[in-house]
Amino acid sequence: MPNVFIKTYGCQMNQRDSEQVARMFTEGGYTVTGDEFEADAILVNTCSVRDQAEQKALGKMGHMGKHRTLKPHVVYGFMGCMAQSRGQELFQNIPHLDVVVGTQKYHKVFEYVDTILQSRLERRMDDLELAYKGDHICDVAEEKDSQNTIKDHVNTTTDPTAFVSIMQGCNMKCSYCIVPDTRGRERGRPIADIVAECTTLASRGVKEVTLLGQIVNLYGRTEFPKVDGKSPFVQLLEAVHEVEGIERIRFTSPHPVGFRDDLITAFTYLPKLCSHIHFPMQSGSDKILKAMRRPYKNEKFVEIIKKMKTARPDMAVTTDIIVGFPGETEEDFIDTLNTVKELEFDNCFVFRYSQRRNTPAAEMLEQHTEQTKEDRNQRLLTLVNEIAQRKNHALVGSVQEVLCTGPSKSNADTLNSRTPQNKIVILEGNPDRLVGKVFKAEITGCTGYTLYGTPLID
Ligand code: 5AD
Ligand code: SF4
Repeated sequence: MPNVFIKTYGCQMNQRDSEQVARMFTEGGYTVTGDEFEADAILVNTCSVRDQAEQKALGKMGHMGKHRTLKPHVVYGFMGCMAQSRGQELFQNIPHLDVVVGTQKYHKVFEYVDTILQSRLERRMDDLELAYKGDHICDVAEEKDSQNTIKDHVNTTTDPTAFVSIMQGCNMKCSYCIVPDTRGRERGRPIADIVAECTTLASRGVKEVTLLGQIVNLYGRTEFPKVDGKSPFVQLLEAVHEVEGIERIRFTSPHPVGFRDDLITAFTYLPKLCSHIHFPMQSGSDKILKAMRRPYKNEKFVEIIKKMKTARPDMAVTTDIIVGFPGETEEDFIDTLNTVKELEFDNCFVFRYSQRRNTPAAEMLEQHTEQTKEDRNQRLLTLVNEIAQRKNHALVGSVQEVLCTGPSKSNADTLNSRTPQNKIVILEGNPDRLVGKVFKAEITGCTGYTLYGTPLID
């Protein structure tokens, strides 16, 4: 039985896409391995959002080329956003590369890789030297309805949480972002298909689904009508809420544009919606938001969060912020710091602005030095950590509802769990009794971003 190794960079959507690919390989008789040394097919699912992410994927793929010396038949493939944006040129960068597959063609990866592998294995029967012959397959074309191809899960996992891809693409034009280029136009899956997927997941023991999309709250706006003043996304949330066995619903990421009252109100009557949103802010300065081509003002962003906290007082909010965007002055940066102080995010991912090809911001004249970006990065991180850790420490002594997801990665004697606010709680207890269950836990300790707790369950 051949083995496939899949390394994934980038967002949760990429993880989900990799899972779909893994499922197709297992259906085709492959074993998914976590050990690249025993792989017959090596795939890297790539991210283009920052240069660093691209360099990591290129470095990893370059390094893994060594497996070819011992096993000439090994097939190498790039998938995902960098595959989409660079296409053929990747064959020049990585001489051992065989396959490049874009973001609308994940469902073709198995066929391309398996065809090459089988023909190499057959040739190897005749002559080992002949086993490797340069095969270059590059498929980065558009595919109608590709959003409907990300629908299957790996059946063997016991994870009680799952990602569900509800849409692909993005119609926004943020001036720094490569995603509209790599993922194409916005297109949603039918509600019935998404509900069917959630129902199958629930029957396998999944308790929590995270609905994924580039801008989830705009889900279906071009395909499906509003009903009773409710957007297609809220209709979808209501429909998934009906699925028996699903106890928790999350989604990521929403955008201030189209974040209307119907979505805010949904948090008052849909109890399965977790009290957490990851809500990218990008900047606290109106001038920079404008230069980023984000069509809203800081005031609107703040107002949405305040309304969300009124709808759900225990709402946690996390965000993404870019520092060192071209033209960002010290005053603009201070606007960002002030908004962070005001909103007290539970966590914040800080990104140093990275110039991306074919994006308007890359051509802007007032680019910052790496030193300025790093300086602002550190200042913002210090503030973010101080706020987030203070809020986490305040939870010690409280009782939280958690979903236990399985053994902790760093210490297999302990268990991982998450609160509705998406905070990690490490527990001690019997995995057979706790994993896959939602129960109350008393928070007994905190080390910054990790909480420790005792299960209150009999
Ligand atoms: N440079 C730095 N960060 C970026 N992001 C997107 N594009 C860039 C870029 N060119 C960040 C945004 C987004 C997150 C996924 O990545 O904050 O929300
Ligand atoms: Fe990276 Fe964006 Fe592509 Fe996700 S969609 S892999 S974050 S470039």
